Amino acid sequence: MLDYLVVYASESGNTEQIANEIYSVLPSSSKKIMNVRDWNGRYEADTYFIGFWANRGTCSLEIIDLISSLKYKNAAFFGTCGMGNTDDYYKGIENSALAWLADSNYYLGSYFCQGKMPSVIRDKYEACRGKCEPYLLDAMIKIYEEGQKHPDKQDLLKANVFVHDALSRVPENVS
Ligand SMILES: Cc1cc2nc3c(=O)[nH]c(=O)nc-3n(C[C@H](O)[C@H](O)[C@H](O)COP(=O)(O)O)c2cc1C
Repeated sequence: MLDYLVVYASESGNTEQIANEIYSVLPSSSKKIMNVRDWNGRYEADTYFIGFWANRGTCSLEIIDLISSLKYKNAAFFGTCGMGNTDDYYKGIENSALAWLADSNYYLGSYFCQGKMPSVIRDKYEACRGKCEPYLLDAMIKIYEEGQKHPDKQDLLKANVFVHDALSRVPENVS
């Protein structure tokens, strides 16, 4: 049994960056990091850091399978999303994943930040010119442009702090 397992889904690398930061901070040599596609239940840990990118407001089925499989574990979530850069948006994503975590587990909290989106998304926005409200379109493009800078150093630093916070919440008798 490992102390820590970091498992993440990442299509374009944003969430993987956060996962690597989280993994580097974990204070044990008894730890592993892997893409959820390689996760097959072979490794078990006391504490899981589970990462995903927002896909239409929630996480992928592979991540749902992993979260649903946990029993009597410590679990924390992290991830990236293109549109959300507000606590409310992050809370919505967290809750969509938390719904799959059984009550026997001990939840340690979550950390989300913005991530860059592919340029096809911007192209779609531009294709809306003349058909959508200009102020809405401009707001979406602004968020898209801001996302292009993330995850940045500050996001990684916040991920670092998040790990320390999460670990300080691990109940002594479980870890
Ligand atoms: C098909 C698709 C759906 C997406 N859905 C959302 C969404 O619902 N909300 C959001 O904020 N970002 C959404 N995004 C943006 C991604 O969550 C964002 O770019 C994320 O950082 C990608 O992480 P990755 O590089 O780890 O794959 C979507 C991106 C794609 C390609």
